[in-house]
Amino acid sequence: MSRICVAFFDAKPYDIQTFDPIRPDGWDFRYFREHLTANTVGLATGFDAVCVFVNDRLDAEVIERLRGGGTRLVALRCAGYNNVDLPAARGRIRVARVPSYSPHSVAEHAVALMLGLNRKTHRAYYRIRDNNFNINGLLGFDMFGKTAGIVGTGRIGACLATILKGFGMKVLAFDSFPAAELAESVGFEYVTLDQLYGQSHIISLHCPLTPETYHLIDERSLAKMRPDVMIVNTSRGQLVDTKALIRALKTRRVGYAGLDVYEEEADYFFEDLSGSTIADDALARLMTFNNVLITSHQAFFTEEALLNIATTTVENIAAFFEDRELVNEIAG
Ligand code: NAI
Repeated sequence: MSRICVAFFDAKPYDIQTFDPIRPDGWDFRYFREHLTANTVGLATGFDAVCVFVNDRLDAEVIERLRGGGTRLVALRCAGYNNVDLPAARGRIRVARVPSYSPHSVAEHAVALMLGLNRKTHRAYYRIRDNNFNINGLLGFDMFGKTAGIVGTGRIGACLATILKGFGMKVLAFDSFPAAELAESVGFEYVTLDQLYGQSHIISLHCPLTPETYHLIDERSLAKMRPDVMIVNTSRGQLVDTKALIRALKTRRVGYAGLDVYEEEADYFFEDLSGSTIADDALARLMTFNNVLITSHQAFFTEEALLNIATTTVENIAAFFEDRELVNEIAG
């Protein structure tokens, strides 16, 4: 195969450590720390492909300028592609993704958030470090016998349902395309969204971000939930109306929130900003609640997932430049 030059955007040390060892002979990988935006797209000039992540912005202008600079393929090293203007890409540039790399990684992280919030391990950790062995205020609840509501029973949602059944929970689910056989084999039940909201002690989001699911969790849906409900979002930040969530946390309508993603995460997540102040008031307010556990979009971050992402991305690029079928292409 001829020499292929790939520009990586938002490249972190762990990306380089995972991609470099599997770089095919003769290929050139260049790693840029910058996010891909209209301001940085010039860096991609002359590269055959760009490899991007969740917070790179592939809007119409960026796509047009990539094409103008000779780039023919956008290789997403993630599953979600809500950051790509697909209608703008159609016929201009091809786009491939990694549809599945480890649903376990995300499902297990959702469970880590649930257990952390429930048993308050984040608070216990700080108490013990301060020689405070008092357990007042750390009361949790048995997961066994409680009801979990899963929105989206694709790869990750199905994995989570299996884990939560293992805890002895009743699992309810909603999906626009219910999978009856899956429900039967795992032992969960499809219900309407309103039923799920009304009955679940824990609600976990695993559907993609689309115009239909934007602010799925808002004032209206929150009002239908059990008081003290736990909401876990490891999917996409914009599924949740953050301001409505903050209001519901203030009144204890929502008892706990586990957030691996945040509506305006692009300027914050994945960066070390310990020398700066947080200008985003909603994020700063969320960070003040001790019943909110925020992680920085790390649900995918396991060794197994990183390796799967890298090998599938390299295979996507190879398939495109060898004129083979691009099985992971995103249809515009
Ligand atoms: P998937 O495509 O296997 O499953 C998504 C499911 O959502 C499908 O069953 C689909 O029918 C359903 N769905 C679509 N629209 C819906 C709607 N309006 N209401 C209810 N269900 C709906 O996707 P997968 O692999 O399970 O990933 C789910 C999401 O997780 C991704 O879209 C991505 O945003 C997020 N994700 C987050 C990661 C992280 O590190 N935090 C890593 C990987 C994915």
